[in-house]
Amino acid sequence: MAGDRLRIGMDLLEIDRLERALERTPRLAERLFTDAEREYAAGRGRPGQHLAARFCAKEAVAKALELTSWNFHEVEVLGTGGPPELRLHGAAAARAAELGVRVEVSLTHTGRDAAAVAVAATG
Ligand SMILES: CC(C)(COP(=O)(O)OP(=O)(O)OC[C@H]1O[C@@H](n2cnc3c(N)ncnc32)[C@H](O)[C@@H]1OP(=O)(O)O)[C@@H](O)C(=O)NCCC(=O)NCCS
Repeated sequence: MAGDRLRIGMDLLEIDRLERALERTPRLAERLFTDAEREYAAGRGRPGQHLAARFCAKEAVAKALELTSWNFHEVEVLGTGGPPELRLHGAAAARAAELGVRVEVSLTHTGRDAAAVAVAATG
């Protein structure tokens, strides 16, 4: 499919759903999040809030790029203290290259929910 259109994806998650899943299955954190993502979240007041937003960003990117086979580490969202920095690896990077798009994400979180939007566009 050509990359000459705007692609968008979004996702929303209740933060405590992720927190409960991480409590039940501690290894899930390593499966879902890169070292840098976990370190960034661990340094914040409520890590689950930042992890949930990053989970949403990964799902949002998967939607925007229509990824079919990928793993969560291939979409990495780095905290900068400003706009988040998206790094694509592996199958996700290959898909973006195939489409000729670059991808940006925007995150948000309240005490209850986290959400993210991903936009993929040429240029
Ligand atoms: C940057 C700003 C928009 C973030 O808004 P917020 O409601 O505090 O934060 P949200 O929950 O919506 O989003 C948090 C995410 O935004 C992202 N973010 C932070 N700064 C950003 C920026 N400058 N641009 C884009 N995204 C940013 C981060 O990824 C953050 O997620 P993380 O902490 O998990 O890494 C806000 O702090 C700001 O500076 N607003 C300017 C206007 C202002 O000062 N208003 C106050 C009026 S009282």
